[in-house]
Amino acid sequence: MNRSLRRPIIAGNWKMNKNPEETKQFIEAIKPKVEGANCEVVICAPYINIDAALRQAEGSNIKIGAENCHWEENGAFTGEISAKTLNDINVEYVILGHSERRLYFGETDVSVGQRVHTALHNNLKIILCVGEQLQGREHGITEEIVRIQLKEGLLNVPREFMKQIIIAYEPVWAIGTGKTATSNQAQEVCKMIRETIKELYDEDISNHIAILYGGSMNAKNADELLSMPDVDGGLIGGAALDPKSFAALVNIASNKF
Ligand code: 13P
Repeated sequence: MNRSLRRPIIAGNWKMNKNPEETKQFIEAIKPKVEGANCEVVICAPYINIDAALRQAEGSNIKIGAENCHWEENGAFTGEISAKTLNDINVEYVILGHSERRLYFGETDVSVGQRVHTALHNNLKIILCVGEQLQGREHGITEEIVRIQLKEGLLNVPREFMKQIIIAYEPVWAIGTGKTATSNQAQEVCKMIRETIKELYDEDISNHIAILYGGSMNAKNADELLSMPDVDGGLIGGAALDPKSFAALVNIASNKF
């Protein structure tokens, strides 16, 4: 497998943090630090901050994403945001199937798959999140859980759309807990994800797809995680809230690939 076929990605997931003014300040602060980075630099922000983020990032190498979208393009869904609206305002990325959406907002493998379809048809690049809870790992069924999440998330996605898909492996027990998966644990699952993509599609697609690790990744542990042959970047929560630590992660990834 040839790692150079894939573009590394450092994506921040801000979750429910920051306001538009803080968003502006953050992007202004990282711009000079990440320009010329040898990886894709993505900030996924709360909807209310997206306009400020897009304006501030204009003309830079920083790409903006949303943290979710609905499975319909419009309609009577109070409080929701559609993939079509995100595309209309030039958002490039969207996170789908994050474990917090699954845990706290009742999203299922099936509804995640529906969102994937609508987002693809609205030209968004998708960071599709998969990952087991602690119980799943302790019961030795990580592989089964992640394979089902992948298969349902990508159900009926034609191969020509796979260029728009990025997978993020986020073990739920490592998110926001300070407990990072070891680099070997991350590699083992990311490799299995690539093999599953090969089974579902073909070797070419599996060689080109970017697979990220997420879960307490920071400037201290990133070097080791990103050294793994099937870990093509990171989806970062806490460490993406501070411009210095986010820029440090971008620089680590830039020098690794
Ligand atoms: P932390 O980096 O805060 O563990 O969050 C990871 C995550 O959930 C990114 O989507």
